[in-house]
Amino acid sequence: MLETLTRVPPDPILGVSAAFQKDESPDKVDLGVGVYKDEAGKTPVPRAVKRAEQEMLAAQSSKTYLSPIGNPGFNAQVAALTLGSDLAGRKSDLALAQTPGGSGALRLGAALLVAAKPGAAIHVSDPTWANHIPLLGNAGLQIEKYPYYNASTNTLEFERMLSTLDALPAGSPVLLHACCHNPTGQDLDVGQWTAVAEVLARRRLLPFLDMAYQGLGEDLDRDAASIRIIARAVPELLVAVSCSKNFGIYRERTGLLAVLTAGSEPASIVSGQLGRLARTLWSMPPDHGAAVVDRLLSQPDLRQDWMTELQHMAHRINFLRTLLADRLSAASGRDFGWIKRQRGMFSRLPLAPEQVILARDAHHVYMAPDGRINIAGISPANVERVAAGLAEVMKQ
Ligand SMILES: Cc1ncc(COP(=O)(O)O)c(C=O)c1O
Repeated sequence: MLETLTRVPPDPILGVSAAFQKDESPDKVDLGVGVYKDEAGKTPVPRAVKRAEQEMLAAQSSKTYLSPIGNPGFNAQVAALTLGSDLAGRKSDLALAQTPGGSGALRLGAALLVAAKPGAAIHVSDPTWANHIPLLGNAGLQIEKYPYYNASTNTLEFERMLSTLDALPAGSPVLLHACCHNPTGQDLDVGQWTAVAEVLARRRLLPFLDMAYQGLGEDLDRDAASIRIIARAVPELLVAVSCSKNFGIYRERTGLLAVLTAGSEPASIVSGQLGRLARTLWSMPPDHGAAVVDRLLSQPDLRQDWMTELQHMAHRINFLRTLLADRLSAASGRDFGWIKRQRGMFSRLPLAPEQVILARDAHHVYMAPDGRINIAGISPANVERVAAGLAEVMKQ
């Protein structure tokens, strides 16, 4: 029976990593995979995570099952961190489920939407994170796109985005990147989020916010302004939270789906549905990462230490943005000031696929096929080389 299966094309981003590993040049630079890198090019486990991990393991007396919706302490802590204390205080209106990473939260949220309205279409930004489309689509949602980014001007297509949202049928789910848009790095400002919130409320649309980089743009609260502004305007909202990047626990698969509902009765119904759906998807989420995050956030000294390290990561990314933009502008004679205005780990360079290949083959600079670069892969040591190589490629 398995002979009916066809070969899956290689994953474009993982293919970049594999090609990078094979390259023997000492000058090679990896701007492909979306993980944070420090000054030494490493993806470290934050100090506070290490300590929380040791304490948690020492205190753990059983590994018996929890439940399909996971660790209630983790769920409450992460909901407060992301939604803010006002919203997290509306406990009875919230349904929370611990999930395997942000991807699990997106998948569970999509399953909830399909259960509520089979055949529903979700509207995603153009462009969006490449995995959004299969993750949400394989759950049974139709995918539609709204205008988001103008790759010729490297700016947000805000008016077109707003007018498209304003014309959607009532009840339509809309996926929004809460901060640090992947792949463009182009976020909305507070005024723009307020205008989007007004349209979502007036058109009775259902926002589904994807929060994968909280704390890596500006800081924990400013990065979550989108969620808090929208939650004040609408009765219902879904948030998929990933703890992978900001806690540095990628492979521990730690995330949360938070669903804000219009009252305690719908919240209890949604909570039951989340448990049922999780049971059919993965039965129960993995414990370790969530137990560590719960311990870290509930201990003031660990929490403070983590926040300091996270703030350092965000500052470093923003410093590298300035460095790259200035060097690239100087090397190419073109304006790359827009890289400084974007946030998070990614920006997308205006390169054709052939230019991306040329950057790799002639200059050992590796990036995603659509020109997306991981800013954290830049360093003061490699920036001149990267800028000179990219400027050369852009002349071709
Ligand atoms: C926009 C976005 N959402 C969600 C995720 C999922 O993260 P994870 O499943 O690794 O927690 C990612 C990871 O790269 C992402 O970039």
